[in-house]
Amino acid sequence: MPNTATRKILVTSALPYANGAIHLGHLLEYIQTDIWVRFQKSRGQQCHYVCADDAHGTAIMLRAEQEGISPEALIERVSQEHQEDFARFGVAFDNYYTTHSAENRRFSELIYTRLRDAGHIATREIEQMFDPERGLFLADRFIKGTCPKCRKDGQYGDNCEACGATYTPADLIDPVSTVSGATPEVRSSTHYFFKLPDFADFMQRWINDDRVQPQIRNKLMEWFEDGFNEWDISRDAPYFGFEIPDAPGKYFYVWLDAPIGYLASFQNLCEREGLDFDDYWQPDSDAEVYHFIGKDIVYFHALFWPAMLHGAGFRTPTAVNCHGFVTVDGAKMSKSRGTFVKATTYAEHLNPEYLRYYFAAKLTSGIDDLDLNLDDFAARVNADLVGKVVNIASRCAGFVKKIGGGTLSSHCAEPAMVSRFIAAGDDIAEHYENREFARAMRRVMELADEANTYIAEAEPWVLAKQHGRDQEVLDICSVGINLFRQLMVYLAPVVPAMANEARAFLNLDTLDWASRHQVLTEHAINKFKPLMTRIERSSIDAMLEASKEDLAAEQKLKEAPKGPLVDDPIAEEISFDDFARVDLRIARIARADYVKGADRLLQLTLDIGGETRNVFSGIRSAYAPEALEGRLTIMVANLAPRRMRFGVSEGMVLASADDAGIYLLSPDDGAEPGQRVT
Ligand code: MSP
Ligand code: ZN
Repeated sequence: MPNTATRKILVTSALPYANGAIHLGHLLEYIQTDIWVRFQKSRGQQCHYVCADDAHGTAIMLRAEQEGISPEALIERVSQEHQEDFARFGVAFDNYYTTHSAENRRFSELIYTRLRDAGHIATREIEQMFDPERGLFLADRFIKGTCPKCRKDGQYGDNCEACGATYTPADLIDPVSTVSGATPEVRSSTHYFFKLPDFADFMQRWINDDRVQPQIRNKLMEWFEDGFNEWDISRDAPYFGFEIPDAPGKYFYVWLDAPIGYLASFQNLCEREGLDFDDYWQPDSDAEVYHFIGKDIVYFHALFWPAMLHGAGFRTPTAVNCHGFVTVDGAKMSKSRGTFVKATTYAEHLNPEYLRYYFAAKLTSGIDDLDLNLDDFAARVNADLVGKVVNIASRCAGFVKKIGGGTLSSHCAEPAMVSRFIAAGDDIAEHYENREFARAMRRVMELADEANTYIAEAEPWVLAKQHGRDQEVLDICSVGINLFRQLMVYLAPVVPAMANEARAFLNLDTLDWASRHQVLTEHAINKFKPLMTRIERSSIDAMLEASKEDLAAEQKLKEAPKGPLVDDPIAEEISFDDFARVDLRIARIARADYVKGADRLLQLTLDIGGETRNVFSGIRSAYAPEALEGRLTIMVANLAPRRMRFGVSEGMVLASADDAGIYLLSPDDGAEPGQRVT
C-alpha cells in the first residue's frame, strides 16, 4: 500500500432492502465498514463511503401494495428510517442514495447495452410458475406446497425443510401461491441472460489475485469446478424496477441494478463534491475500491459484479471484504426469543457505542459468525471502556483542576512511557488497516492496563494529602491525561461520539492519527464529565422484551394468512404398542458442524451412552453449531438409516417449529445420555 502519498479510496457497504428495518445483524456490516472508513480518514486518506437503499424487486412491490401505498412512497419512508438508524449508530456515509434514481437507471442501461453490444447477452424461453389470479410470475419463495419426497406440507418452492430434498416448484404437490392462495400454473416467457461463462478465465484470474479472503476464494473455486450457468437478469412485468431498453415489458432483475447502485451513489456524490468519477472507475484507475458484504451475497459481488464491470469497460473492485453473521447468545437471531433486535429498539435501551465497541472487540478479517453474547457484552464494555479507559481520565482530571487550575504540567514526567504509547499507534494502525479490529482493541486495552497500573502505583491521591508534593501530583496526572489522549486517538474510529466528548474535554481540535505526536504540556483542559456509564443487565432485558413486543405488533399488522395454511391437525390414533416401537433416547450433542452445500442442515454427532450416532438435522436456521455442543436432547434411535447426499443419517432429533423458529427439545437437568424416554 502506498503510505506516503494520500490514497484515494472508495468504500461501500451492501445496500439494505427497502422493505424492512435495520437490525443488529445489518449493523455488524455497517459498523465494521464505518470503523474502517473512519480509520482511513483519521490517517488523512481521501476516503469516500457510499451506500443506498436497494429499492427494487417483487418483495417491495408487494409490500407497498399490502400497505396500500405506492412503491415510491414506501421506499421514501423506509429510506428515511434507515438513515435515522444509521445516524444513531454513528455510521457516517458520505452519500446515502437509492437504486431508484436517474443515475442508476443511466448506469444500468449503459452497462447492459455495452454487454449486449459485445455479445454477452442471450435470450431464451423459460418455464416458470405463474399466479393467474395476480397475473404475476412467482419466485420459488412465493410458492408453498407438499414435499414430493417426504410429503410434509407447507414447504417452499425449492427445497424441503423436513427432509432436505431439493426440487423445482413444479414438482411440489398441491402448490399454492403465497401471494394470492391461487394454484399456480406453468407458463413460459422470454428471459434475458448475462453470459457469465464468457468470463470464466477472467474470473478465475480475478479470484486468485487476492481480491477475496482465502475461505471465500476456496468456496468460489468449488463453484468454478461445478461450472457456471448464464445468469437470468430479466423479470416480466409487473415489476418495480427499470425496464430493459430494447425489451418492453421486461425489467432488470433487482440484483442486476443493485450493485450498479454503488456507481450511482458515488456519481451522485461526485456531482455534489466536484470529484472525478472516472478517476475512480476507469480500468487503469489508481484509486482503491472496496465492497464490504455479508457472506450470503458473495456470489453476486465476487462473480457477477466483477464480470459485469469488466465486460462493460469499468475497473473491478480492489477487494470484496466479507464478514460472517451475527448470532445472539449462540443462536441465530430469533423473533420469539426477542433476540431479533431492531436498531431502533436497541437504541431506545442502550448506547449504540457499546455495540460498536463490542463488535470491534470481536471482529477479525475472517468470515466466522460473530456471537453477541449478552452477558459477555455487558461485562466487556463495562470492564474495558468504563473500567479501564474512562477511569484514567476520571482519576486524573480532578487533580489537574485543583492543583494546576485546569492546566497540565509544563513538562512530561514520563517521556519514555508516553513515547511508547505513541509508537504503539503504528501497530494498531496496521491492525485496523487489515480489518483485525479485535487485535487493535486488545492492544489498546493492554495500553489502558499499563496506564492504570502507572497511576495506581504512583498513588497521586496519597501524595495529594502530603505537604509540598503538589507538583508531583500534577506531573503524574498530566501523564495520565496524555496517555488517555493517546487511547482516545486509537479508539476514535470505534466510539466516535465518546471520542468527540473526550476531544472537547481535552480541549483539542482533532484526535486524528497524526495529532498524537504532539505531547500535551502546559495545555488547558476542560471540565471532566463522565464519558460513558456502565451497562445494566436490566436495560438488556428491557430491550429483549421490547423486541418481543415489536414482533407481536408486526404479527397483528399482517393480514390473515392467505391460502390453506392451517396448523397440523392431530394425527390418527395409535395403540400404546405402536408408540412403544419408537425407541426415544436421551442424547448428548457431542459435536455439531455445518454441512458443505446444505443451507438448512447441521451434522450432529450424538452420544447415547457408549454409542455415537451421525444425524443430519434441518435446524441450521435456528442454531449455531457451537451453541449445541454439549447440550442434551431427545432422539429417535431406531429410525431406519437414511442415505443423504452428504452421508448416512442414523436417526433424528426432536424439535417443534413455526414461522418464527425451530425449538429443539431438551430433558430436565439430571437426565443421562442413553436413557430411554417413555
Ligand atoms: N439488498 C441486498 C444487498 C445488495 S448489495 C448490491 C441485501 N440486503 S439485506 O438488507 O438483506 O442485507 C444487507 C447486508 O446486511 C448484507 O451484506 C447482509 O449480509 C448483511 N446482513 C443481514 N443480516 C445479517 C446478519 N444477521 N449478520 C451479519 N450480516 C447480515 O442483501
Ligand atoms: Zn420433504
